[in-house]
Amino acid sequence: MKQIQLSSFGIQNLSLADAPEPGKPKAGQVLVRMRAASLNFRDNLVIAGKYNPKFPTPMVPCSDGAGEVVEIGEGVTEWKVGDKVLATFAPNWIADHATHQEMRHTLGGPLDGTLREYILFPETGLVAMPKHLSFEEGATLPCAALTAWSSFHVFSKLLPGHTVVVQGTGGVSLFALQFAKQAGAKVFLTSSSEEKLSKGKSLGADFLINYKEVPEWGKQIRSLTEKIGADHIVEVGGAGTLEQSIIACKPFGVIHLIGILAGRSGELNLLPVVMNNIKVQGIVVGGRKAFQAMNAAIEASGLKPVIDRIFPLSETKEALDYLKSGSHFGKIVIQI
Ligand SMILES: NC(=O)c1ccc[n+]([C@@H]2O[C@H](COP(=O)([O-])OP(=O)(O)OC[C@H]3O[C@@H](n4cnc5c(N)ncnc54)[C@H](OP(=O)(O)O)[C@@H]3O)[C@@H](O)[C@H]2O)c1
Repeated sequence: MKQIQLSSFGIQNLSLADAPEPGKPKAGQVLVRMRAASLNFRDNLVIAGKYNPKFPTPMVPCSDGAGEVVEIGEGVTEWKVGDKVLATFAPNWIADHATHQEMRHTLGGPLDGTLREYILFPETGLVAMPKHLSFEEGATLPCAALTAWSSFHVFSKLLPGHTVVVQGTGGVSLFALQFAKQAGAKVFLTSSSEEKLSKGKSLGADFLINYKEVPEWGKQIRSLTEKIGADHIVEVGGAGTLEQSIIACKPFGVIHLIGILAGRSGELNLLPVVMNNIKVQGIVVGGRKAFQAMNAAIEASGLKPVIDRIFPLSETKEALDYLKSGSHFGKIVIQI
């Protein structure tokens, strides 16, 4: 079978290779013919050896994927041949809370990932794909969508009428925007690009702020909310944006700390966090139970993920470079 292989860290060591098929499923296992994968910011870091230099190589990158069940092992009751399924980011993470071991045992490093034609999964390492989605659309859900969902619906409560700040227009952020609008919230969207902001408006964003032109966007959100602040901040910038997020956040509001695009460390005045009872909630993706709940909501609402571009497997390097350029709006998908 064909797979994308990383022989050692560095994108120059990525190639389309022939590999043996994984063989017949053992008891409790499911063999899936993968049809699509989607890229996350993390994938470029893993490939460069910057995410965790201790990950083993050679490896198959990428955590997210969709496919079709082609064979089941003895004792498997949840799946049958032909079922359309999505891989879970961490195959042993089932409930909302998990151990270190369950959270760190993830596809696309340290485990082999989804950029290959066939994969053997444990029965519980899969969820059903929402029925109205294509494989390409389904493949966008395991990491980015679930991270946004967990923020709003597992580790806090997003209610109708809440105000939400969404930073940027990448994969996680657009799912956050869509889920927030679905829940009846008001969304403040920030972006470096006017064109992306206008696309965000057509997805329902209520207020648009160019963070390059308005570096003190936190203050602007305070004034737009009559000095109250927002209930939720989807923080993908990290250290470089946290100061503005704290300014933008309402007393008793939540900053969902998801990414570190604008830096992982820096000096910060934490006093306003204390004085305003702000909750800073670290988020890592989520478990299988939350993934199933999210998919039920996606199916009921008919939500369609935003895909920027689809590449063939043979152009995985080009797709990763495109992701790195930051010019995308939403998700980048690879057809397998
Ligand atoms: N904790 C978790 O479980 C988890 C899960 C998924 C992702 N993440 C992290 O979340 C971050 C986003 O991931 P992703 O896959 O959605 O990335 P992505 O699709 O590559 O999105 C990147 C986008 O972020 C925006 N951005 C960059 N710098 C920014 C800044 N200073 N302020 C506001 N927006 C900024 C840009 O939007 P514009 O072009 O519109 O300016 C850029 O296009 C990454 O740090 C990633 O590692 C964490």
